[in-house]
Amino acid sequence: MKFGVCYYPEHWPEERWAEDARLMNELGLKIIRMAEFAWAKMEPKPGVYDWEWLDRAIDLFANASMEVVLGTPTCTPPAWLTRQHPEILRVDGNGRSRNHGTRRHYCPNSPVYRKYSRQIITQMGLRYGQDERIVGWQTDNEFGGGKTARCYCDDCAREFRVWLEAKYGTLDALNAAWGTMFWSQTYTDWSQINPPGDDINYKNPSHLLDFYRFSSDSYVSYQQEQVELLRQLSPGRFITHNFMGLYLDLDQFNLAAPLDFITWDNYPTGNPDRWRQILYPPGADATRNDPVYAYDVGEPIVQSMAHALMRGLKQRPFWIMEQQCGHINWGSLNPGIRPGTPRLWIWHAVAEGADHIIYFRWRATLMAQEQYHSGLLGHDGRPDVGFRDQKKLLTEMEQLKQLTSAPLDASVAIIFNYDDLWTLQMLPHRQDFHYLRHLYAYYHACLRLGIGVDLVPDTADLSRYKLLIAPTAHLADAALAQRLHNYASGGGTLLLGIRSGFKTPSNRVTDQPLPGALRKLAGVTVTSWQSLPPGQAVPFRSEIAGFAGEATYWVETLGLETAVPLASYELERPDRFAANLSGLEQPTALAENRVDRGRVLTLGFYPTPAQARALLQHLASQLAIPSLPDLPAGVLTYQRGDVRLLLNFTDAPQTVTVGTTSHTLPPRDLLFYR
Ligand code: GAL
Ligand code: ZN
Repeated sequence: MKFGVCYYPEHWPEERWAEDARLMNELGLKIIRMAEFAWAKMEPKPGVYDWEWLDRAIDLFANASMEVVLGTPTCTPPAWLTRQHPEILRVDGNGRSRNHGTRRHYCPNSPVYRKYSRQIITQMGLRYGQDERIVGWQTDNEFGGGKTARCYCDDCAREFRVWLEAKYGTLDALNAAWGTMFWSQTYTDWSQINPPGDDINYKNPSHLLDFYRFSSDSYVSYQQEQVELLRQLSPGRFITHNFMGLYLDLDQFNLAAPLDFITWDNYPTGNPDRWRQILYPPGADATRNDPVYAYDVGEPIVQSMAHALMRGLKQRPFWIMEQQCGHINWGSLNPGIRPGTPRLWIWHAVAEGADHIIYFRWRATLMAQEQYHSGLLGHDGRPDVGFRDQKKLLTEMEQLKQLTSAPLDASVAIIFNYDDLWTLQMLPHRQDFHYLRHLYAYYHACLRLGIGVDLVPDTADLSRYKLLIAPTAHLADAALAQRLHNYASGGGTLLLGIRSGFKTPSNRVTDQPLPGALRKLAGVTVTSWQSLPPGQAVPFRSEIAGFAGEATYWVETLGLETAVPLASYELERPDRFAANLSGLEQPTALAENRVDRGRVLTLGFYPTPAQARALLQHLASQLAIPSLPDLPAGVLTYQRGDVRLLLNFTDAPQTVTVGTTSHTLPPRDLLFYR
């Protein structure tokens, strides 16, 4: 386990570097990431390179026993390039080009841009690829960051058509898949198809889904070009990228595939700001529902979910490439960070699978866009809060290492699927339905019970999990049904949530009774489904302790084929149901279907947090998955091998009972024991 820091030698007078290196040594920092935005400094004029400053920086920091990670600078093409070739600029959905003066202003499909990008990476690779002080590379910086996942330029339009032709072969196949008979959308020539920009309202969701997939593939293929060059020019070094946690616009699983491991940028106080609108229960007032401690610590379960997704990208440990160490500048309030908080975040990250931690950034910048962002050092070069916390962490290295070397083996996994997420963004049916929030209902319940969870794609090795949750397997086909069948028949328990199997991978509704391709597996037919307005509820009862009450928000009634009922709706007023319920006296709300050595449970409604907890507690005890009674809000616990970690994110002491022992945790503090 190592610590490191992001450093921008080009931002500081060279006379200062040695003092910075000395202080980095004092903090035990062993890794330095540099250069990811320095294209204009490396290639001040087309084809004219200046490496000397970077050579000197590498010399100096490597001499201070630091390993160097270099970022390719392609996130920030220089002004000479954007002026000479404005066609490389990203174009938004209204047809407007990004101007120079920011970052991520390029189009990944521009052949001109790709040529210049290959040139700078080749030059960098030739210069540093074999340098033994360079341990690895970061491709670009945060692909898709700042809402740049999709571009609508002419190059993208052309490449989109090529992508579609490769996928469908013929226009007839495309027209059929997209249902273009609707509203006279039929295409008779590939050139008629455009990216669905903002000039189209009420877009065709099949067209849109393919464009989202194409846009994601565009970055995958652009990154692939970087990866191939670096593998050639810098053999034996790792290649990674800095991902963005719960980022939704690109398929992060695909982007992660060619990398050796993933890293991500961990900003806990930015995350609740960004995600609370999405994640808090439907109908909740997001601001009022923010726990008080979240303003300066972040919301720990949201944070955990981001870690879990990042761990799931390659189903293995990761690095934090940018660790928040003080206040940030891009949230709505950016409150000050109290002593002890960076330490807590880092213990949390390590518990979730981070092997190495690199801070962002070394020193608060005096210039340009990020002036109000903190660093380990303040603007004046003196130690700030993160600096002091790092000193404390240095004294805890032994324990941190014990934690990183303990096994990370969750027995529960939740399926995460970008196609389903995008599809439900396009046609949510009710506007406040969000794939991620629905997933969070299950995720949140597990963490409150002290149950570790992985977020994985459905193509992962699922056999290692005792319980697999598919909150919404919305787009389903025979292949997915087969994978899930294999999981269950091998002895797994699959919990299938609402809106599963509604659609085909083309984003059209199935012509089969619901849940479509998953019907045989579930052993039920969804006989009706509806969205309920606030205040409307359908009572249900079951034998499961605590799992009773009212189904709200979204309700599906289940008719039994081969499954047996575990919970039933009580329809005192069947007339409240929008759909046909004939022949269903007490429709099922939760069903269980045996599948060889395992089983599939289908839940017909969107559970409240308490309902999700009751159901998961029940399943955990059936499956001998260790769980704790509901933890206090703001407290998390991890068991890795024989190591136990308890974290208190709140500003008050908290008492937690594990087994027969009660532990009291001071505010913003932790407890580690074996
Ligand atoms: C990240 C980015 C960094 C810096 C940081 C500020 O998203 O990669 O370059 O901008 O945010 O928090
Ligand atoms: Zn483009």
